[in-house]
This record gives sequence, C-alpha cells and structure tokens, in this order.
Amino acid sequence: MMRAVVVAGALLLGFGAVVAQQDAVKHAQTFMKGNGKNAGALAAMVKGEKPYDQATVDTALAQFADTAKNLPTLFPDSIKGLKADGDYSASSKIWEDKAGFSEHIASFGKVVTDAKGTIKDLDTLKATLPVIGKQCGGCHETFRVKNS
Ligand code: HEC
Repeated sequence: MMRAVVVAGALLLGFGAVVAQQDAVKHAQTFMKGNGKNAGALAAMVKGEKPYDQATVDTALAQFADTAKNLPTLFPDSIKGLKADGDYSASSKIWEDKAGFSEHIASFGKVVTDAKGTIKDLDTLKATLPVIGKQCGGCHETFRVKNS
C-alpha cells in the first residue's frame, strides 16, 4: 500500500515535470508565432497588399524587441531535444553552441533597435525589412529544425 502511494507520487512528480517542459516549449513557440504574424503584416505592406501603417510597424518592432529580450531564457536546458507541435522545433545546437546562439540573439536585438528609429514610411520599411528578415533566417538556418 505504502509502496503504491510512493510510486503514484513519483509518477505525479514526473508528470508535473513533463507538463512544465511542454509549457516551456509552447512558451518559446508563442513568441515565434507572434514574430511570424508580425513579419507577415510587414511583408503585406511591402508587397502593397496593405497600406503603410505606422502602428502596425511599431507593434511588430515592439514584439520583436520583446522576443529578443526573452530569447536568452526561452530555451532552458530542461527542454533540450524536445519536439514542438507543428512544423518546427529547436535544434539541439541551441544548447551545444550557447555562445553562437547568444550572438544571434544579440545581433537580432541590435537590428530591431536600429529599425525602430529607421522605419518611418514605405520606402524605409522596404529597405529595412530584408535586414530584419536576414536575422530571423540566420538564426533559423542554424538553430531551428523542421519536424519530420
Ligand atoms: C536567435 C534565434 C532566432 C531568431 C532571431 C528568430 N527565431 Fe524564429 N525560431 C527560432 C527557433 C529556435 C524556432 C523553433 C522553436 C520554436 O518555435 O520555439 C523558431 C521558430 C519560428 C517559427 C515557427 C513557429 C511555429 O509555428 O512552430 C516562426 C514563424 C518564426 N520562428 C519566425 C521568426 C521571425 C519572423 C523572426 C524575426 C523577426 C524570428 N523567428 C527570429 C529561433 C529564432
């Protein structure tokens, strides 16, 4: 009887850890989904599908900056190797090359900060969006993997 209780307790604890891990994976993914949504809104303006709108730009840049600020803690050791739901997961390189990952975060943060003072109209958006996109793509190339 006692043994059953202990085993059930251990199972529960293990279950709690798994839930926490999944939450952490989802938490990181929520930031990236927001990035994708905002980058899409900016791209729609560049393509002429939507009129230029400074508020949309400011919202996107604020969200990118928030992501850059949070990125250093979004991928704790406890979620190494875990697969996210959907198309993409974090590559194990995030944990194997922490210095490289930090560099990407810093450079993304700098580009976003610079963009804040730069994007004022459609022309400056057209010139700056590819610079931001290069940062997104540069990190993904190394640190994101497609789920099979
Ligand atoms: C420093 C690294 C880094 C930067 C910079 C970065 N990402 Fe990501 N991104 C990742 C990683 C790692 C994943 C996979 C894990 C995840 O989704 O949490 C990812 C996943 C994604 C996904 C897929 C989310 C899903 O539905 O699973 C999108 C969309 C995305 N990023 C968009 C962007 C955009 C847009 C930018 C630039 C504005 C950006 N990311 C900048 C590392 C980065």
